[in-house]
Amino acid sequence: MSRRPLIAGNWKMNGLRADAKALAGEIATLSKAQSDAAFDLLVCPPFTVMETVGAAIEHSDVFLGAQTCHTAESGAHTGDISPVMLKDAGCTHVIVGHSERRTDHAESDADVQAQAITAHAQDLIAIICVGETEAERESGQALQVVREQILGSVPAGATSENTVIAYEPVWAIGTGKVATPDDVQEIHADIRNTLADKLGQDTADGMRILYGGSMKPGNAKELLALADVDGGLIGGAALKSEDFWAIAQSCPSL
Ligand code: 13P
Repeated sequence: MSRRPLIAGNWKMNGLRADAKALAGEIATLSKAQSDAAFDLLVCPPFTVMETVGAAIEHSDVFLGAQTCHTAESGAHTGDISPVMLKDAGCTHVIVGHSERRTDHAESDADVQAQAITAHAQDLIAIICVGETEAERESGQALQVVREQILGSVPAGATSENTVIAYEPVWAIGTGKVATPDDVQEIHADIRNTLADKLGQDTADGMRILYGGSMKPGNAKELLALADVDGGLIGGAALKSEDFWAIAQSCPSL
């Protein structure tokens, strides 16, 4: 089964209008110069620069996404942003359940599943994040923890078109530590088996599973070549267009 790789940049809480415009513009220019690319490119900037970034990538193949969304379509939820608003702002994707949201905002698997369901109702692609902590890995629980997150966070209506999974071991995020290729492949294959149990083999076989956590130009090729790795969710290295592009160029050809 050939799955088109997705290279997604999670800008997190970084980017003022001028630098966001420049970064997005550089990525759009690089993308336009390679119209036959064997990968999809996505940028997920903060809400405050969504419009700026949307304008900078407008005539390119680069997709626009958000970093979270609320579970309701509108209403009395001060400070929150709904999937309807994201769609209106030009987004096609939204990250849900990032470990920083799970920690900083106490988001549970049930919350993440509800966000994905509301996102799907707006035809947004939900990128559902899972991943174990360092303590969980060291105590041999990584597979079990991730399995439970998949079962609890992925909605029954998930398809290979409306959902992407991102495996991000918490201990590898922003630390420079990367899971070994064997560990990454083991957990990605296990995620696909869990998805097959939940959603059926065809859906599992078609669903993209990204790796995230200190992915850089220097390690991307090895990670992206793994059988069950279908792209990357990139933090720090997504803030430099040349690094982000170098990672994209490390995708195996289809
Ligand atoms: P880093 O690439 O900075 O480790 O961040 C990964 C991440 O959290 C992407 O969502």
